[in-house]
Amino acid sequence: MTNIFKHIAIIMDGNGRWAQKRGLPRLQGHRQGVETLRNILEESGDLGIEFLTVYAFSTENWNRPSLEVQGLMSLLKIYLKNELKTLHKKGVCVRFIGERDKLAPDVMKLITQAEELTKDNKVLTFIVACSYGARQEIVQAVKEIAQEVLADKLNVDQITPETISSHLYTKDFPDPDLLIRTSGEQRTSNFLLWQSSYSELYFTPTLWPDFSREEFRNIVQEVQGRERRHGLISEQVKGL
Ligand code: FPP
Repeated sequence: MTNIFKHIAIIMDGNGRWAQKRGLPRLQGHRQGVETLRNILEESGDLGIEFLTVYAFSTENWNRPSLEVQGLMSLLKIYLKNELKTLHKKGVCVRFIGERDKLAPDVMKLITQAEELTKDNKVLTFIVACSYGARQEIVQAVKEIAQEVLADKLNVDQITPETISSHLYTKDFPDPDLLIRTSGEQRTSNFLLWQSSYSELYFTPTLWPDFSREEFRNIVQEVQGRERRHGLISEQVKGL
């Protein structure tokens, strides 16, 4: 296969509905969602994917009932405490993107530890979007660029798409080849707006806790077969 994906991004949606369908508290859906995440991360390694980004918590999620916010944050802490050694052993580099200053000090500490411990790992980069919003990310990039212009470090004429990319949280990563959203919603909900300009999009009705390694593998294999033209015509792409 010629078109092997490097980077896959996932909007892990449907945990709440999964729990509600079973008469369980929403947090139980998120717990089950962590199990799915573990499986998908393993499958990503098996598929040879180099970067996996997951939308764990959006800037808008802060407005959910405080018990659910607390529950999600404690799931993240438990996950990092329990899984970090295993991730490190498997050669996974863990990175976080989002508004770090909004996170509680104990969450921040675990995130910093995880990034520090795994920073030289090369097998797979696992990027967790936490307190992340693409519009906020772009605003922050624009502010930084404006500061550089004001400080005479950059001319307005020198601003290119690469200038913007290099000021985003994702500056160290390639753009995603594929963006998957579970649960049937067909929106990208403020996730990687700039970076997903040329990403393939895939929406599955499966709720995140039910999303299996097999479905993930099938989606990746199916979409890898699609032709990505980036504005060119088919013959040009084939000649590349
Ligand atoms: C969306 O489902 C899911 C979330 C807002 C959180 C996703 C978080 C996890 C899977 C676990 C924590 C992450 C890590 C990295 C340990 P929803 O609640 O919006 O579902 P609904 O649309 O059915 O209500």
